[in-house]
Amino acid sequence: MTGTASGEGSAGRRPVAVLVGPPGSGKTTVGHIVAERLGVTLRDTDADIEATLGMTVADIFIEKGEETFRAAEREAVASALAEHPGVLALGGGAVLDPGTRAALAGHTVVYLVVDVADAARRVGLARDRPLLVEAPRARLAALLRERRPLYEEVATVVVDTAGRAPEEVAELVLAALGSPSPAAAEPVRIPVRPAGDREYEVVVGPGVAAELPALLAGRTRAAIVHPQALATPAATAADGLRAAGVQTHLIAVPDGEAAKELSVAGHCWDELGRHGFTRDDVVVGFGGGATTDLAGFVAACWLRGVDVAHVPTTVLAMVDAAVGGKTGIDIAAGKNLVGAFHQPLAVLCDTGLLATLPAAEVRAGLAEVVKAGFIADPVILDLLDADPTGASHLPELIERAIRVKADVVSGDPREAGRREILNYGHTLGHAIEKVEGFRWRHGEAISVGMVFAAELSRLAAGLDQAIADRHRDLLARVGLPVSYPGGADAWPDLVAAMRVDKKSRGRRLRFVVLDALAAPRILDDPDPDLLRAAYDAVSADRAAGRASAGPAASQRQTDQRQTEKGAG
Ligand SMILES: NC(=O)c1ccc[n+]([C@@H]2O[C@H](COP(=O)([O-])OP(=O)(O)OC[C@H]3O[C@@H](n4cnc5c(N)ncnc54)[C@H](O)[C@@H]3O)[C@@H](O)[C@H]2O)c1
Ligand SMILES: [Zn+2]
Repeated sequence: MTGTASGEGSAGRRPVAVLVGPPGSGKTTVGHIVAERLGVTLRDTDADIEATLGMTVADIFIEKGEETFRAAEREAVASALAEHPGVLALGGGAVLDPGTRAALAGHTVVYLVVDVADAARRVGLARDRPLLVEAPRARLAALLRERRPLYEEVATVVVDTAGRAPEEVAELVLAALGSPSPAAAEPVRIPVRPAGDREYEVVVGPGVAAELPALLAGRTRAAIVHPQALATPAATAADGLRAAGVQTHLIAVPDGEAAKELSVAGHCWDELGRHGFTRDDVVVGFGGGATTDLAGFVAACWLRGVDVAHVPTTVLAMVDAAVGGKTGIDIAAGKNLVGAFHQPLAVLCDTGLLATLPAAEVRAGLAEVVKAGFIADPVILDLLDADPTGASHLPELIERAIRVKADVVSGDPREAGRREILNYGHTLGHAIEKVEGFRWRHGEAISVGMVFAAELSRLAAGLDQAIADRHRDLLARVGLPVSYPGGADAWPDLVAAMRVDKKSRGRRLRFVVLDALAAPRILDDPDPDLLRAAYDAVSADRAAGRASAGPAASQRQTDQRQTEKGAG
């Protein structure tokens, strides 16, 4: 479908999306998929220039020089912007030209971020990439570094392509454009009715962060608490609120778990004090679960409680952290030890904001989604079987997982009764997190915890072998770890950690097990031999002896993780 003629031919209509990014970021491949899904054509300015000048891009560079090429490109971009109503892919260096950058203002520009390794792999020997003929990898690294600020300058949407297949990247682009799979086109509204508290809505869909001004209409002041990584979308949200007459202050906090510190909460309270926040003003938590936990806690304590609204930006925060009213911070004695129950005004899950979320964070969040599938909604498992990346059904998966949590917390918001089923896979998962010094992501730890819980369910509750196996297979296909590298030696430490878990009662261990798919119950104080037998099924000693590819493949992923910094 690439070509100089757009096919639609309706002059005056703008492109639905302009793709920019370095060589190897997948503009053409992703552009084709996005165009096909939207029922439009892909136009490529490099192809336009080649058609106009009757030479290949490489020959234009060699024979006429880069300046001539950029001038031709500037014109090609300008005409395409004016007349192509489909998807437009620009050459990697188009953003170098100030005129081209200026022409992009006001358009929907998607920047496909790529790392050196992926870009080098995708450009191959780069025969037709004129700027990369010599020392391709070093040139490429320099080029990615130098151009990044220019791409960011023109971009309205940023999508991280690292570790993602073109189809996945295309799904993220579509979600960010507000044109996801038809099933999720309309925002979904899920009511949460916590006992003894007011009802609120969790809204799910692309672009729903734009509902913030309506939600806070009539308020005098708002403070948006956000991590550094989300400074740009948080600023956009602030602009929207200001346009609606709300005096809005941005409070930047550290990325991830580092935000859940008393000193950071103190900084937020100082800011609220400085801006004269009263009981009628509102705090907005804009970020992952660490940010929404902090923002909720800050709101719960300010003047003994002001309203909070959440805009969660990770899968985990959407399906778990931002829903249910638990807030808190970490202290030296442990994670989440200081906190409060504080229900939000509403939770706006803007799935378009997930485009920039690294793939490993998406997978970690999917662990909680898989959990919701096994304890309550097996349709989730079927959707993930069909596409283990989750990309093609992300809004629906998120919606379904939220319904499971909303249903549970609507009955009983406190730590008791039915709420405990949400702890499936968490008893061992928390212990792994603790023993590993919180270097594992939470979702990775509970993935192993769920395989363990399934095995325990098989041994203690008669769960079908096939359903226990389905845990291991599905989680491995999602790309999550399904065995624990510590092996047999680690078991005493894990048991000790489980005994001091704040969810265990006294010294007795409690586990959520399944009698069948979607039939969870509590298993109180099981026989230690059963626990040990269930652990053997996830311990690396046993996994190493097994010829199956799943655990081995995910094991590599686990090993890799340990060199990264954990997010909690
Ligand atoms: N309150 C609850 O009921 C509850 C439930 C589960 C988890 N939690 C808490 O949630 C926290 C974990 O949440 P999380 O997994 O969302 O991690 P996180 O908040 O640490 O976010 C992970 C990383 O991704 C970045 N990020 C967030 N959104 C992004 C986006 N859209 N694009 C790019 N980067 C983005 C963050 O800055 C951070 O570096 C833990 O502190 C945990 O205790 C709370
Ligand atoms: Zn969890």
